[in-house]
Amino acid sequence: MKTMKIADHTVPAIGLGTWHMGEPSNRQTEIKAIRAGIDAGATVIDTAEMYGNGLSEDLVGQAIDGLDREKLFLIDKVLPQNASKKRMEKSLDTSLKRLKTDYVDLYLYHWRGSVPLSETVATLQELQQSGKIKRWGVSNFDVVDMVELLGLPNGNNVAANEDLYNLGSRGLDFDMIPWLVKRDIPLIAYSPIAQGDRFGANLTTNKVIKAIADNHNATPYQILLAWVIRNGSTLAIPQSANPEHVVANVEAANITLSKEELFMIDSEYPAPESKQPLDIL
Ligand SMILES: NC(=O)c1ccc[n+]([C@@H]2O[C@H](COP(=O)([O-])OP(=O)(O)OC[C@H]3O[C@@H](n4cnc5c(N)ncnc54)[C@H](OP(=O)(O)O)[C@@H]3O)[C@@H](O)[C@H]2O)c1
Repeated sequence: MKTMKIADHTVPAIGLGTWHMGEPSNRQTEIKAIRAGIDAGATVIDTAEMYGNGLSEDLVGQAIDGLDREKLFLIDKVLPQNASKKRMEKSLDTSLKRLKTDYVDLYLYHWRGSVPLSETVATLQELQQSGKIKRWGVSNFDVVDMVELLGLPNGNNVAANEDLYNLGSRGLDFDMIPWLVKRDIPLIAYSPIAQGDRFGANLTTNKVIKAIADNHNATPYQILLAWVIRNGSTLAIPQSANPEHVVANVEAANITLSKEELFMIDSEYPAPESKQPLDIL
């Protein structure tokens, strides 16, 4: 199974997203789905205080209850309005309570708001010192934001940037990914299968993708995931509440696309040749 590194920690290159999950009426199926993913080898679970106003964190807390915490890698995110010296720790404490744990492995600044970036970074550093977060990172940052971040005291401690990235939305290939690779900062790709191929690019019905999938005895969704993680420094976090889908997604980390297949994919969905606006959900 392909892995990637976030700072000093190695994880399987496909983890589990949990946005839109956590409604009490779906709880038991969703717990089964998350546990199926962990049984299949996933260790990363991505959540946020924003998701369902804490319902997703509650779900994750319930799903991992009784499991070996050290084998898991939990990613959580702080809302912009809570990313200040005054509010961040309180917000994190609430998240930790819902997750039923005393630390998160990676705490992300969900998107930029009005709090000065230097204050957010200083507060993240303090929380890292306290041990409540093991590492911190950012999300929905464009290259210009990353450059600003790295110019701040301790800004170079950023452990990852989480952005929207999939075959149909590959603007990051023009500038962000080369920029991150050069600095050894990993990308966390959200919406890696374009929300179940609902963004209009018809990825899973494309003839080339289907032929490559057949060639690997895989589904088109698995090929989309194998493509997202192809450079070895990207983590994909597909979301599914369906245990069969979750297992298939995690197992896509076993698929290696050949140079010829990557070339064929590029011919169908070409890499951008100019700067693209950052896609944000
Ligand atoms: N940092 C940010 O700002 C940000 C923003 C958006 C998302 N995220 C994170 O990224 C995660 C993933 O992104 P996303 O939820 O937007 O979209 P996604 O993972 O690209 O797509 C999820 C959709 O795909 C379907 N699906 C998943 N696996 C499938 C499979 N093997 N076969 C067929 N359908 C499949 C799911 O339905 P089923 O349940 O039926 O399988 C669901 O409707 C989120 O859950 C969240 O953790 C972060």
